[in-house]
Amino acid sequence: MSEPLIEVADQAGIVTLTINRPKALNALNGAVLSELDRLLDELQGREGLRAVLVTGAGEKAFVAGADIAEMRDKTPEQARRFARQALATFKRLEALPVPTVALVNGFCLGGGCELALACDWAVASDNAIFGQPEVLLGVIPGFGGTQRLPRRVGPAMALDLCTTGRKIDAAEALRIGLVNRVLAQDELPAYVAELTKQLGGNGPASVRGAKQAIHDGMDQDLESALALETSLFALCFAGDEQREGMSAFVEKRKPNF
Ligand code: CAA
Repeated sequence: MSEPLIEVADQAGIVTLTINRPKALNALNGAVLSELDRLLDELQGREGLRAVLVTGAGEKAFVAGADIAEMRDKTPEQARRFARQALATFKRLEALPVPTVALVNGFCLGGGCELALACDWAVASDNAIFGQPEVLLGVIPGFGGTQRLPRRVGPAMALDLCTTGRKIDAAEALRIGLVNRVLAQDELPAYVAELTKQLGGNGPASVRGAKQAIHDGMDQDLESALALETSLFALCFAGDEQREGMSAFVEKRKPNF
């Protein structure tokens, strides 16, 4: 049987999706994008889902971009369809109701960087290399990079990266806010274990509420976004988690969510 294009592992509701084309440095072709879309559709309504982690197979790359060999002969219309396919899949990832984290374990270029940007946050290994090198290939980012990158790191740094095509290391990615943490490559599994423990111990409804407030609020003016926060805060008091969390504090015990 052939290897799956994306490996799926589930550890207590923390689902890890591993893009599995190591020979092509996990480059995103149409088949990988379709498989990712199918898996995300499945995960959308999964009971007990706590978080989704995205990473790349092998020790060299997270994802080295969209598949250049597959893109080379595309017409403008085919390129438009390819970009739309990726954008719809990345939107599905972004819209998952639980935290999503990119575990960037090596080259994270072009469409790979755009995939990482569609996750809520990113953690990088210290050998990770980031960039939007599309201009070196005669194109611009097509999987959301010109829009999500400036929203993550500011327009000046996004312009620097997208117009020079220069690559940056994990330390610079951390400094500009592209990633939240940098770890040695062999520390990534321990990070997953730590995250599993942290998120596993928190109230699932409040974790989802926090994500919803931040995501939906970012698209609104401050006043509307604060009103959204108030609604979601009040909604917490309609469920069991708030009573358990606050009772546990008062009774000096651990909450049982
Ligand atoms: N697409 C297709 N194949 C790729 C690829 C990509 N993006 N990146 C790497 N590969 C393949 C290589 O062709 C090579 O295949 P073969 O062994 O069959 O020759 C294999 O992966 C290993 O790559 P290298 O031999 O090049 O490895 P290296 O260590 O010498 O270099 C690298 C690593 C610097 C990442 C180099 O592979 C590279 O520059 N890759 C392309 C990076 C890039 O330009 N990404 C942006 C793509 S465009 C895009 O993503 C557009 C968009 O926004 C939608």
